[in-house]
Amino acid sequence: MTQQAEIGRAVQLLRDGGLVAFPTETVYGLGADASNPKAVKKIFDAKGRPADHPVIVHLPDATHLSRWTLEISEAANTLAQRFWPGPLTLVLPRAANVSDLLTGGQNTIGLRVPAHPLALALLGEFGSGIAAPSANRFGRLSPTTAEHVRHELGDKVHLILDGGPCDVGIESTIVDLSESRPAILRPGKISSSEVELALGQKLKSASGTEIRAPGTLPSHYSPRTPLKIVDRDDLTNAAKVAILSFGQSDSVTSIRAPSDAAEYARLLYANLRALDEMRCESILVERVPDGEQWAAVRDRLSRAAH
Ligand code: TXA
Ligand code: MG
Repeated sequence: MTQQAEIGRAVQLLRDGGLVAFPTETVYGLGADASNPKAVKKIFDAKGRPADHPVIVHLPDATHLSRWTLEISEAANTLAQRFWPGPLTLVLPRAANVSDLLTGGQNTIGLRVPAHPLALALLGEFGSGIAAPSANRFGRLSPTTAEHVRHELGDKVHLILDGGPCDVGIESTIVDLSESRPAILRPGKISSSEVELALGQKLKSASGTEIRAPGTLPSHYSPRTPLKIVDRDDLTNAAKVAILSFGQSDSVTSIRAPSDAAEYARLLYANLRALDEMRCESILVERVPDGEQWAAVRDRLSRAAH
């Protein structure tokens, strides 16, 4: 099937209330028509996700904001113009006609315009909001390839659009603009400083590590194998241990991590999946450097640890 035909099929499935998995530049999403509560409900069933967790609505472009949010503040406009399409989610006051299923019963809604060409083509053709959490089982690692989605949700999704491996590899930065002071709810590729620079204002939590988006849990994004973050000296090469480290190793259960933060993030979930599949007793991950560049990776690793 040509890509155009695949998109046509995906749009029809969405209009009929079905689930379509699609690539974004961050991770793959499990999409449903955001205006159709019955369809959105299917997302929760497929993922095994609690109903009070809000879902991000993906838009074709910023002109669609007014359908979903009560008011578009100057800050929202600034960030949308600067970072969309891109890996940034804005939490804004919800419009009156927005379903509780999307907001988890809160008075805010998470909105984003993704940058992946296939996501944009799908959204453009659909012409409205697509609700989409990451296309994984609840609490598990987000998928960064179509194959990961098939593995996680294969029988539960009506169509998986394959756009190759995701470029960013970890979920979008979430900025809450619904309170008087903007705050980072989830760190991502777009850093706190970039957001502060664009807004000309300090954020409530510059580190972004203490404040969590409602509905997120400390243990999330986890492989099945227990994972520990350790210093280099504690990376034992014992049997039955799978290792992600910066150093060279000839062990078959060891993966060498990229020293560049963006590259580390891009491969993070695929690497954790590979380590998980080694069926070792535990996974050891070498502690990553301090500093803002690594903030999003540190966040995901600390939540994968259990
Ligand atoms: O990169 C991403 O954001 C990916 C791709 C598919 O776009 N999506 C994603 O969705 O990561 P999900 O559902 O796995 O994570 C969404 C996060 C959750 O932690 C949720 O609590 C938060 O966004 N969120 C969504 N709407 C919110 C709202 N109204 N207020 C606060 N947090 C919200
Ligand atoms: Mg998720």
